[in-house]
Amino acid sequence: MGVKAVILAAGKGTRMKSELPKVLHEAAGRPLVSWMLDTLVKAAVEDTAVVVGYRAPEVAALLPAGVVAVEQTEQLGTGHAAAVGISGLDLGDDDVVLVLPGDMPLITAETVSDLIETHRAAGASATVLTVHAPDPHGYGRVVRDHDGMVAAIVEQRDATPELLAIDEVNTSVYAFSAAGLAELLQRIEPHNAQGEFYLTDAVALLNGDGKRVAAMATHAAEGLGVNSHAQLAEAASALRGRINRKWMEEGVAMTDPARVYLDADVELAPGVVIHPDTHVTGASVIGSGTSLGPSTFIADSNIGSDCRVWYSVLRSVEVASNVTIGPYASLRPGTRLGEGSKAGTFVEIKETDLGPGAKVPHLSYIGDASIGADANVGAGTITANYDGYQKHRTVIGDRVKIGSDNVLIAPVEIGDDAWTGAGSVISRDVSPGSLGVARSHQKEIEGYAERRRNRAKEKDQQ
Ligand code: UD1
Ligand code: CA
Repeated sequence: MGVKAVILAAGKGTRMKSELPKVLHEAAGRPLVSWMLDTLVKAAVEDTAVVVGYRAPEVAALLPAGVVAVEQTEQLGTGHAAAVGISGLDLGDDDVVLVLPGDMPLITAETVSDLIETHRAAGASATVLTVHAPDPHGYGRVVRDHDGMVAAIVEQRDATPELLAIDEVNTSVYAFSAAGLAELLQRIEPHNAQGEFYLTDAVALLNGDGKRVAAMATHAAEGLGVNSHAQLAEAASALRGRINRKWMEEGVAMTDPARVYLDADVELAPGVVIHPDTHVTGASVIGSGTSLGPSTFIADSNIGSDCRVWYSVLRSVEVASNVTIGPYASLRPGTRLGEGSKAGTFVEIKETDLGPGAKVPHLSYIGDASIGADANVGAGTITANYDGYQKHRTVIGDRVKIGSDNVLIAPVEIGDDAWTGAGSVISRDVSPGSLGVARSHQKEIEGYAERRRNRAKEKDQQ
């Protein structure tokens, strides 16, 4: 009495006009096929086989352990694909086999569970998931008989004008009883406008055998299949809406949820506040009381609680609590910001540890550095970390004060409690507690302005 599944994902997705297999296009940070896999896990499906074909290794590479990929070397149609798919499953006669397309990310686990229940309750050999489509064009029409069972599914291209008027369409999601399924699929023949083996023909074959085919209608939105970029955008928008509603229920505040872009696997604590045009992507985790945005992009980063991040870009960054970032900071991989630290306006940082309470407030480039606790880096400071061949590190001790407009030529070390003078080019280590200054002395030329004026006057009179 198990439930097993076949996901059909061998097609190229011609209408995407892309080399990338359709099921690998992403919505809310997850490939389409992974949305379906996630739904099946939530619906407690035991075993899943994915039918791969177009660029099979890339699709197979993305499948989690325990999900088998079965290759359909030629895309001969959905009926053929389903037959290939079940060859990858170990089926008992009492099992239910779900067949689903890989490009339908909005279907929910509740709907899948309802379909399984409806199928069992109806004592049917197959149950088709349908929707009443506002625009049924292009879909297979569901033809019901007088007692509400499904007599046939007729594809758009093969339908008479009378059948085209039916608005109930096939979503391409089915529950089948495993007994006799392999034999049934073998009997499908390619007698149709496209010359393909249509899985939909299984319905008429079952009827011919005197078997029952049921249907369950669900919400039109869940049936959205992605065939084009317009539909991909529509699906992504719906998924983001669900993700945002879930987080708001968990206590996250959003000033304008329509302009908040959260990937599926992001984790937010209650009390996070998100302002418009903020993207949080990948495996990012955000702590409570932290405010993100406006206009911020965060990828694969871990941010503690009570931070403020605005108008900034963070990629693979570790941030402790009470940290201020931006406006206009670019924090690149390997940046770690300690408790209470600050990366301020027009600051770029990479591969750097910024100690607790340390500050880089304005207009700086800090790369391959370690900056001690409570150090302050003056405006316009640059670590010259690259000598044209290799990267070198800059080490700045605790409580150091780097003057404004410094160039720190790495490798170089500034000891604890040291200072550097404004405008210095620091190429040698500064010992703890000392002042390092490296700039030309200022001289004064008295009466200069007057002499200039007189010279100009003389020229005029010539
Ligand atoms: C199919 C249904 C149609 C339904 C529609 C819903 C058939 C004949 N028609 O049409 O009734 O309304 O879905 O979207 O089934 N695939 C393979 N191998 C193949 C062919 C297809 O793996 O040889 C996969 C595709 O990658 C895709 C899925 O099966 O994920 C559906 O195939 P597609 O060609 O898109 O079917 P539709 O023409 O949309
Ligand atoms: Ca399709």
